[in-house]
Amino acid sequence: MRRAGTSHDPRWYKDAVIYEVPVKSFYDGNGDGIGDFIGLEQKLDYLQKLGVTCLWVLPFFPSPLRDDGYDIADYCTINPSYGTIEDFKRFLKAAHDRGLKVIGELVVNHTSDQHPWFQRARHAPPGSPERDYYVWSDTEELYQGVRIIFVDTERSNWTWDPVAKAYYYHRFFHHQPDLNFDNPAVMKEILSVLDYWLDMGVDGFRLDAVPYLVKRDGTSCENLPETHAVIKAIRAHVDLRGPGKMLLAEANQLPVDVREYFGDGDECHMAYHFPVMPRLFMGIHLEDRQPIVDAIEQTPPIPESCQWALFLRNHDELTLEMVTDEERDYMYLAYSQDPQARINAGIRRRLAPLVGNDRRQIELLHGLLFSFPGTPIVYYGDEIGMGDNVYLGDRNGVRTPMQWTSDRNGGFSRADPARLYSPLIMDHVYGYQSVNVEAEESDTASLLYWMRNMIRLRRLFTVFGRGTIEFLAPSNRRVLAYLRRCKDDLILCVANLAGSVQPAELDLGALNGYVPVEMLGYTEFPAIGELPYFLTLGPYGFYWFELQRPGA
Ligand code: BGC
Repeated sequence: MRRAGTSHDPRWYKDAVIYEVPVKSFYDGNGDGIGDFIGLEQKLDYLQKLGVTCLWVLPFFPSPLRDDGYDIADYCTINPSYGTIEDFKRFLKAAHDRGLKVIGELVVNHTSDQHPWFQRARHAPPGSPERDYYVWSDTEELYQGVRIIFVDTERSNWTWDPVAKAYYYHRFFHHQPDLNFDNPAVMKEILSVLDYWLDMGVDGFRLDAVPYLVKRDGTSCENLPETHAVIKAIRAHVDLRGPGKMLLAEANQLPVDVREYFGDGDECHMAYHFPVMPRLFMGIHLEDRQPIVDAIEQTPPIPESCQWALFLRNHDELTLEMVTDEERDYMYLAYSQDPQARINAGIRRRLAPLVGNDRRQIELLHGLLFSFPGTPIVYYGDEIGMGDNVYLGDRNGVRTPMQWTSDRNGGFSRADPARLYSPLIMDHVYGYQSVNVEAEESDTASLLYWMRNMIRLRRLFTVFGRGTIEFLAPSNRRVLAYLRRCKDDLILCVANLAGSVQPAELDLGALNGYVPVEMLGYTEFPAIGELPYFLTLGPYGFYWFELQRPGA
């Protein structure tokens, strides 16, 4: 049963544990107050020890950084603040030498308005191929009714450009003009960007904001067949390089629409499971498994070669765009009573502060993350329980420097504290003086130790990444119980979503004679009999059992 996936398997992403890391925030190798590739390379040992198998590196390209690098001004080099292309190559090799995969970002819905393509377009005559790299109109009438994503800052998806004397279209900030995928020259440029990074050896890309690529009047301009055709062309191009390169779709859409980003196994290999994430938090707050079970049961099947990407938190707000109005109200009430914590349609908080720094809830949420069907993604700093700062503006409060030690600048940088790209978290509960890697490494009861243990355990069992899920229906709705099965491998997961002790009576009749072995302590439990299997769970407790066949 214990077969860890290897990094040579073309479907490595099915068994991966992904770590989301912003270069800027991780470790400052040259002492200028900004994290860089030299620093990230120096911390690869830490990441390897954590047990993650793939690094998703946030945008690291030249950029005015008005959207933290998602506003790209040049796709084929490195932001000088983060180092040089040589630094990147050294980092990539060092990661590969450790068996770690590295995926980058393909942000091609839009560029920065500082990108030379846009500067050229605004000066080019209307109708010229250069102008048509972007989407222009003489009025704001086109694409009426298309929703605005950054509702807190933008009032329209069109902005007037006095140089071009026309409006340009943007689904995000007004300084991020959308590229025009109806222009074949744009597609050609994108494919050569892909080639550039694939030639260098990166293992894949997250496709940012992928539902909005192609626009058509009279539609929502989301998930259009023409957009899927673009993704298929990108995939076909990636496949030319041979197996083992992975595309991950960021499509914050309803499950049925997200499903389409896998195509028939000919679009993206992976896509984020946006619908399940808020429901995990809802389930725990309501102490009721139903929102979680519903989210998973409403998930359409996906092609065999594909995989869901699961996450608890990331660099953005906890998005509530795709939940019902009632669910959104509930989540705001439950998780962001301080209005300062809200932004756009979401909540800008890290994991630990979201759950009141309750270690048991942090563990339970990871227990679910690591045992649900898909590949888990851990957001940097959440493995040590870092906090946030909702007063920093935009989503910057969840992007503060990694906390390495209790020394100056939390051990993140040797720079004058005034030079840091962002203040560190300094409050009494989450401040770097108390929450930091060094302290947690010297405390075997720390969250970091626990995370290392769980990641390693999960990696031993490929059934987590590759198996099916079947929910049980114990009468106590505070208990979430499910079987994960892959061929003959069988695991039973049982979780208490409540903050009080709960009984669980599980109907496991079909598994009569199987012996549950608790996986953390490798403790044999009484064999399953004909009567319901009885368990008691502590507050927010959860168990993973390997079910061993009778006589095994
Ligand atoms: C990224 C955001 C970014 C937006 C616009 C998103 O999907 O995750 O951080 O602001 O794309 O590029």
